[in-house]
Amino acid sequence: MDKENLSVGVFDSGVGGISTLSVLNQYFPNENFVFLGDSLNAPYGDKEKSKVIQLSENIVNQLLQFPVKAIVIACNTATSAAKNELCELYPYIPIIGIEPALKKAVDSGSQSILVMGTKLTLELEKFNKLLSQYSSNTAIHRLACPGLADLIEQDISDTDAIDQLLEKLLKPFLNEDIDSIVLGCTHYPFVKDRIQKLFDKEINFFTGFTGVAKQLEQQLKDKDALTNRNSRGRIEFFSSKKDNDEIQLYKNYFEFAVENIRNV
Ligand code: DGL
Repeated sequence: MDKENLSVGVFDSGVGGISTLSVLNQYFPNENFVFLGDSLNAPYGDKEKSKVIQLSENIVNQLLQFPVKAIVIACNTATSAAKNELCELYPYIPIIGIEPALKKAVDSGSQSILVMGTKLTLELEKFNKLLSQYSSNTAIHRLACPGLADLIEQDISDTDAIDQLLEKLLKPFLNEDIDSIVLGCTHYPFVKDRIQKLFDKEINFFTGFTGVAKQLEQQLKDKDALTNRNSRGRIEFFSSKKDNDEIQLYKNYFEFAVENIRNV
């Protein structure tokens, strides 16, 4: 099949990956995308690594049923737990994974950085290697946020529940001199403004969106697989819940992301 008809497959444990998808769609408006959310099994962040590997393999197998030319793991947790295994299993297709943008935050000159992520992302080797690389000159704090992805998964308009949980989670850091926050889970950009509201000063936020977009561009260029189409590509949404209401929810989150989530 020619490259104009192939799609980029994007997956996450659920709605979080839609933040990544909306930014990728800004970068590559003419590419086709197939998004698959594993909302039936969300959250991934509280599970064992082996379980996340198994779920990620299953999702990639489903994405490979479509004509895809690359796969983006729009989930920091699945990248940390399963990217190496996925690349070994499917060496013939580029697989790119989003990661917490700690380097970007350190390079920006931040002095005191808070990394918010899932329990699994923050405890796995991938993140801890990154941490030991950058923690000598910068204060880096970690905050696992159990329950946050679940709330975002259910309904971002339930702002009371989200605000209460954020306040509880962030309380120990509100009086620290935090200048930057790394949103190390793709669900969290949906509540970035609610996080900002809790701090007295302007916080610099960082995500792995640019990193993932640049890697995707490079890998598609290397394979001469970037589309030459001059018109917009199509975006298809699928969910492991196999439920039309869930697909509508994904589309609503996509609209929200297009309006509110900028590349940071
Ligand atoms: N969105 C995912 C991430 O980037 C994980 C959320 C979850 O399923 O726990 O880590």
